[in-house]
Amino acid sequence: MVYRSEGAPDAPYFTPVQSPPAGTATAEHPPTLFSPLKIRDVTFQNRIWVAPMCTYSADKGHLTDFHLVHLGAYAYRGASLTIVEATSVTPNGRISPEDSGLWEDSQIAPLKRIADFLHSQNQKLGIQLAHAGRKASTLAPWMSKERGKAIIATEEAGGWPGNVWGASPIKWGENWAEPKEMTIADIKEVVNGFRDSAIRSVKAGVDVIEIHGAHGYLVSSFLSPISNRRTDKYGGSFENRIRILVEIIEAVRAVIPSGMPLLVRVSATEWMDKTAPESWDVESTIKLAKLLPALGVDLLDVSSGGNNEKQAVAMFSEYQISIAGQIRAALLAEGITNLLIGAVGMITEAEAAKEIVEAGKNVEKADTIEISDEQGAIAKADIVLVARQFLREPEWVLRVAHNLGVPVAWPKQYQRAPFPKGSKI
Ligand SMILES: Cc1cc2nc3c(=O)[nH]c(=O)nc-3n(C[C@H](O)[C@H](O)[C@H](O)COP(=O)(O)O)c2cc1C
Repeated sequence: MVYRSEGAPDAPYFTPVQSPPAGTATAEHPPTLFSPLKIRDVTFQNRIWVAPMCTYSADKGHLTDFHLVHLGAYAYRGASLTIVEATSVTPNGRISPEDSGLWEDSQIAPLKRIADFLHSQNQKLGIQLAHAGRKASTLAPWMSKERGKAIIATEEAGGWPGNVWGASPIKWGENWAEPKEMTIADIKEVVNGFRDSAIRSVKAGVDVIEIHGAHGYLVSSFLSPISNRRTDKYGGSFENRIRILVEIIEAVRAVIPSGMPLLVRVSATEWMDKTAPESWDVESTIKLAKLLPALGVDLLDVSSGGNNEKQAVAMFSEYQISIAGQIRAALLAEGITNLLIGAVGMITEAEAAKEIVEAGKNVEKADTIEISDEQGAIAKADIVLVARQFLREPEWVLRVAHNLGVPVAWPKQYQRAPFPKGSKI
């Protein structure tokens, strides 16, 4: 009998096989947070995903070794999906000159390097495809002394302030570039950009695609009647304002494998309902959500805000989670069970994460979604997405499992360092 350390199958180098992947519950009947979830052909070993986070560190749109280490750190420590930051589908759709992009073929290889690494660790990679619209061509946030205040990236700084596109020629704010109202041809170019970037993502080996429809970037600015004042078929009615998003979804779904999950992130409210007579609000999102399953979208990632300087955010720790719950409940009330909901925002504690995806008593479990009767509390979401807590604690999944008393698989190389029993971390 020969004993040898088994290597991960299909990895481009030796690395020990991680089976089951880190972050998998190893005892029976774990809480929902550590129960697997299958979306199309992809199985996630737990319900914790790393939300997309811009790092303003790409090299002419190309991801680098920084991104490999940064994203790899969360993935091999057990996040069941790690989503690459907003990645622009055209050069002028970058927020900053150092944003990630997928508008040309040379940008595939560095993304593939990351996908290969994650797969070698038996983990999954997602990517968020984006266009920044009127919020493009700014410098990295650390260049600004005042938090939340942008600085325009001039041509000398690698920016394109004269070629910033928007739904309408309305500036986001004082420190942003003057956008040009997009022509129909510009809209077509962006839709094709999403399609071609999706093709490149598939070539790179990503497992999941998310379309960025949030935070006041291009799609989000089309959804809102405040930033979209167009009078053509892309403005005015709800159906017209969502048209660009629908076209992007259709273009992307048509070129990715049928087994690949497709996610959409939206700002569920632009927090202007108290300020403006008409705005994009939770009701609009619920209306949109009902249309998404038929378009081939599997999960709605519920964020908020970012489209207006004057937004009035009702900020409390559950501010966005309760909106996700409201949307999920509205869908379930109409018997719509084929759109999963992702909750994001200020999730930092194990118990909170557990509670968000846990259904109450009297709950009947269907394949991937819990359906409650009138007495039972329903889960607020199917997935939790976490951003800043991963920056603070790349091992957050393992800590959450420890704090909840759920035994989970660790990366093999780290098995000699379990959290001490009874320790409070
Ligand atoms: C550094 C940083 C970069 C971010 N970049 C993106 C991004 O590329 N795309 C996106 O949709 N949201 C982005 N976000 C928002 C996060 O994905 C997340 O929705 C938000 O931070 C709230 O979650 P949290 O409280 O867990 O951080 C970013 C947030 C941070 C802190």
